[in-house]
Amino acid sequence: MSKMWYTLALLLLNGFFVRGELPPEIEKCAGGDANCIVETINQIVQKYPKGLPGIGLDALDAIDFQDVVVSEATPNTPMQLSLKFNTLRVCGFENTTIQHVKGFEKVLRHGFELAGWTPLLRLDGLYEAEGRLLMLPIQGKGVAQVELSGCQFTCRAKAVEDQRTADAKLYAKINKVKCLVNIKGLHVNFDKLLDNQELSDSMNELINNNWQDVWNTMRKGVNSAVNQVAQTIISRVLDKLPYDDFYKQVL
Ligand SMILES: *[C@@H]1O[C@H](CO)[C@@H](O)[C@H](O)[C@H]1NC(C)=O
Repeated sequence: MSKMWYTLALLLLNGFFVRGELPPEIEKCAGGDANCIVETINQIVQKYPKGLPGIGLDALDAIDFQDVVVSEATPNTPMQLSLKFNTLRVCGFENTTIQHVKGFEKVLRHGFELAGWTPLLRLDGLYEAEGRLLMLPIQGKGVAQVELSGCQFTCRAKAVEDQRTADAKLYAKINKVKCLVNIKGLHVNFDKLLDNQELSDSMNELINNNWQDVWNTMRKGVNSAVNQVAQTIISRVLDKLPYDDFYKQVL
């Protein structure tokens, strides 16, 4: 009798603490085996572009944002442009290749580093812009498409252990994520950047011909947006998947 209750209680508890687990087809690595871990992460990204709810991984092929500030005009500085996306959908992270990782040790020490490459990111949204860009005044609101090609990124996160009593498992928790992004090309199409269609087209052309200057203006804003995305994606996984369960159990 007491054994039955015990079994029932275990079943109930199992239902309560839905701990994340990697799918069986994903090969686990030994902690610290950086090459193996790179392969494993790439397999997860390639096999599950729509995400993997079991481990808290969101879809990577289309990520939606709201109210993304890319740059803010600051008086008495060279930054004379306010650019904001009221809605923004970013496509293309599903084609990311991780190139190297650091810090994925069996015993969590300082944190993690991930470096990788995304061939093309397509951004679609509704923008609002005001101020000066490439010395020219602009004021517009409308639909925008932005393509970032050859995106090389490095993200670093500090991590601490999070020993949970509920399931007696060790989790990892990150606080701040810092990413550095470089690109090989930028192509934009901002609709209604100026009142007149012809002027608007010329302005887009000017931006595309001088994309490097424009990128330098926007890079800080893009980096901080990327920090937030990376932090959200990584935190959700770490919240669901116990740190120990990411690695192969060494007997
Ligand atoms: C991702 O790669 C696939 C296969 O090569 C391609 O069809 C798709 O257009 C790529 N996505 C983006 C946003 O470039």
